[in-house]
Amino acid sequence: MKVLIVGGGGREHAIAYSVAKSSQVEKIYCAPGNAGIAELAECVPIGAMEFEKLTAFAKEKEIDLAIVGMDDPLVGGLVDELEAAGIRTFGPRKNAAILEGSKAFSKDLMKKYGIPTAAYENFDSPEAALAYLETAKFPIVLKADGLALGKGVLICNTLEEAKEGVKTIMLDKKFGASGNTMVVEEFMTGREVSVLSFVDGKTIKTMTSAQDHKRAKDGDEGLNTGGMGTFSPSPFYTEEIDKFCQEHIYQKTVDAMRAEGREFKGIIFFGLMLTADGPKVLEYNARFGDPEAQVVLPRMKNDLIEVIEACIDGKLDEVDLQFEDNAAVCVVLASDGYPLSYEKGLPITGLEEFKKHEGYYCFHAGTRFEGDQIVTNGGRVLGITAKGATLKEARANAYKATEWVQFANKYMRHDIGKAIDEA
Ligand code: AMP
Ligand code: GLY
Repeated sequence: MKVLIVGGGGREHAIAYSVAKSSQVEKIYCAPGNAGIAELAECVPIGAMEFEKLTAFAKEKEIDLAIVGMDDPLVGGLVDELEAAGIRTFGPRKNAAILEGSKAFSKDLMKKYGIPTAAYENFDSPEAALAYLETAKFPIVLKADGLALGKGVLICNTLEEAKEGVKTIMLDKKFGASGNTMVVEEFMTGREVSVLSFVDGKTIKTMTSAQDHKRAKDGDEGLNTGGMGTFSPSPFYTEEIDKFCQEHIYQKTVDAMRAEGREFKGIIFFGLMLTADGPKVLEYNARFGDPEAQVVLPRMKNDLIEVIEACIDGKLDEVDLQFEDNAAVCVVLASDGYPLSYEKGLPITGLEEFKKHEGYYCFHAGTRFEGDQIVTNGGRVLGITAKGATLKEARANAYKATEWVQFANKYMRHDIGKAIDEA
């Protein structure tokens, strides 16, 4: 089987790693890929939003299965285009990827079908939003409707901050057209958990849980990022919580999408908050998380291709999804200055060390080749993942492995998985 993976970050490296393990796969292409993915796949210089080129490439190479890893092309309808060209593709179509593409849509869906989430109002006009905020309770949360690289969420402690936020999102359009509509949402407190799932349109099977660390600095300080590290499983996601979510959130979401004529096939990523009133949905994503995929996929026992095929064929109910009874931690090595400005093109050393150790992974996020040398090429550079019998062991292993790799502006958080100590 010839597989094309669309994307070029740590998530796609983790996907490529799992795909490469499948006995059915003879060749992997990745567009655009990166220097790490290049060990497993032939990387082709086509961007994830270049739909025509991707479709032409998939046809020319007679791709048997395309896997779309990233949110932008999913929301933009790449799956529809590939399918229209006769390419078997894994991922939600445009009318289903809206689950991630519009927060206003997903909030309305949850309200309509009684799926627990924070109370909210949607606004199309800044005047109406401001009038509402005058009488609101603080803190309050403002969210740009569309994709904003995970940055379109503002937590406002006072009316003044909220007014500033409306200006940022709706008037200055800091997050572009995604700020044409804005969700104003009740502020919730609790632990966050990421639960990823496979969905075949009607059946849903959840994967092992994970927790991300979104802020740039230790102690959850600093700016929001794409994610600075993860651990899996989350010790706070108990069997009881899982039972509640299976009953009130997961299947209900899949059924709701079907009832709306928006059958969802692909990955649904549930961003949950475990509040005092029970688990509530913070957000949906229509893809694997990054860096959640880097700790979840290495623990999966199944052949990823078999599970993906079952999703496409509507036979997920026949799959017995299984995860190893261990733990994994991923520490992101970033370029100092991320998520604002940072230097790129710096040589990376020590990568070969990972070949010598079982249970250690170096997933590339922002890297490229300069001649034979691998250099940094992004804010998030590498995801250093290690397994262990326990979360504590996995964390110690991951931090040990961060020492193997060097580049001049290497930056990381030192408290990934600190919450484990409170479990
Ligand atoms: P989202 O992109 O919707 O997941 O939001 C990004 C981050 O903002 C979440 O991971 C939370 O940490 C925070 N957040 C979003 N919505 C809320 C909320 N209603 N209450 C408290 N924090 C929130
Ligand atoms: N790690 C969060 C995300 O992938 O959106």
